[in-house]
Amino acid sequence: MEIKINSLENIHEAAKQFIAAMEENTVFAFYGKMGAGKTTFIKAVCEELGVTDVINSPTFAIVNEYRSDETGELIYHFDFYRIKKLDEVYDMGYEDYFYSGALCFIEWPELIEEVLPGDAVKVIIEELEDGTRSIRMEDMN
Ligand SMILES: Nc1ncnc2c1ncn2[C@@H]1O[C@H](COP(=O)(O)OP(=O)(O)OP(=O)(O)O)[C@@H](O)[C@H]1O
Ligand SMILES: [Mg+2]
Repeated sequence: MEIKINSLENIHEAAKQFIAAMEENTVFAFYGKMGAGKTTFIKAVCEELGVTDVINSPTFAIVNEYRSDETGELIYHFDFYRIKKLDEVYDMGYEDYFYSGALCFIEWPELIEEVLPGDAVKVIIEELEDGTRSIRMEDMN
C-alpha cells in the first residue's frame, strides 16, 4: 500500500492511515535516504498512538523508549545510522526489543539487516521532486 504526504500539515492524517495498515505487525523497518522524513513520520505515528513525550531521533542512544499515554504500551524507536559493527547491536540486546511484542520503529535498518526479524515490515519513504513524500509498506521477503 502507498500513503502520500503532501505537506507537513497532513502528516497526522498519513500517520492515521499508516496505523490502520499496521495490523498485528510490530517491527517496522524504515528505509529512505538521509532527510527523506523517517524521523518526522515516526514522530507523527507515535503522537497518533498517544505518545506525549518529546520524540527525537535516538542518534546517541541507538534506541529511545516512549510510552503511549492512551494504551500504556511501550514503543521503541531505533536509529542504527552510527552502528559500525553488528557487535554493538548484540551488546544492546536487540532481541529483547524486537521480540518483545512491543512496537519497534527502526531507522537505517539496512545496517542491521542480518538481525531483522523475518516478519518485519519494510517501509519505504521517498521524497519526490515536488517535496511530497511517498510511503510504501511491503513484506520484507
Ligand atoms: N512529509 C514531509 N513534508 C515536508 N517536509 C518534511 C516531511 N518529512 C520530513 N520533512 C523535513 O525533512 C527534513 C528531514 O526530515 P527527517 O529528519 O525526518 O529525515 P530522516 O529520514 O529521519 O533523516 P536521517 O536519515 O538523517 O535520519 C526535516 O527538515 C523535516 O522537517
Ligand atoms: Mg532520522
